[in-house]
Amino acid sequence: MATLDVQCEQVVASIEDRILKVVLNRPEKKNALTQQMYLAIVAALEELDRNAELRCLYITGVDNIFTSGNDVIDFMTAPPDLETSAVAKLLTTLPQTQKPLIAAVNGLAIGIGTTLLLHCDLAYAAEGAIFQTPFANLGLCPEAGSSYLMPALMGHARASEWLLLGEKLPASKAKEHGIVNDVFADAELQEKAWAKALQLAAQPPGAVRLSKALMKQHRLQVLPDVMRTEGREFGARLTSEEAAEAFGAFVERRKPDFSRFS
Ligand code: COA
Repeated sequence: MATLDVQCEQVVASIEDRILKVVLNRPEKKNALTQQMYLAIVAALEELDRNAELRCLYITGVDNIFTSGNDVIDFMTAPPDLETSAVAKLLTTLPQTQKPLIAAVNGLAIGIGTTLLLHCDLAYAAEGAIFQTPFANLGLCPEAGSSYLMPALMGHARASEWLLLGEKLPASKAKEHGIVNDVFADAELQEKAWAKALQLAAQPPGAVRLSKALMKQHRLQVLPDVMRTEGREFGARLTSEEAAEAFGAFVERRKPDFSRFS
């Protein structure tokens, strides 16, 4: 078990073969992320760069769930300040992380479950994984730099499928659109993704860090500004009438009705 500055039973960290393995573990709520879970992930990212023994971070979920995104009840009852909250801390730390991040998307990847992947260096998905960025569906707007990173990665038309329609999309689409590197049979995902992590961990670490930094230096010039704007708008949207309708529909397990809004 790895000792992180922030302890949280729902984020289990361990070190194996110089890889910091982080497992999201709140299956009863489909791995919905709480502020404490965000802080534990930030602690893991900080440990990754601080601990000279570590080569990369591997993040995955339990059962067939990666994460269903931010806890929607938290959105309703304690809307996070997208400039100072735990999730804001994660969003500023993620792009700054020097060592590589690998995701094994073992199932549902909703909201930040998908946008987190835009900051990973390698991502692999199980065949049955489902991806969705339902920010507009929830009366919200893109976060984690996705309003910039998604169009840059896949083009505006495809990004609109993700960010305007907010549909649930299969792993094959996530691969076609460049969000994940490869798709493996559900039962083989962990073994195959872990093999990639081992391969990466065996590379010369200085060369890997430098290569990552060079690939990411241009986006780093614009991301802080993009994320500040997204954060401000997202924060305002959390208390909007449209979001209230979407959150109410989630709690009441009904379809939202946005027909009264102009
Ligand atoms: N926040 C809070 N609770 C969540 C959650 C989330 N993001 N996702 C799932 N849960 C909870 C459900 O409320 C339910 O709790 P309950 O058992 O106390 O009623 C439990 O997890 C199981 O979820 P359920 O909806 O019954 O499972 P499902 O298989 O029918 O659907 C999802 C799974 C993830 C598709 C569905 O729960 C969902 O759409 N969640 C919201 C995703 C979302 O909008 N995230 C925010 C992105 S910005």
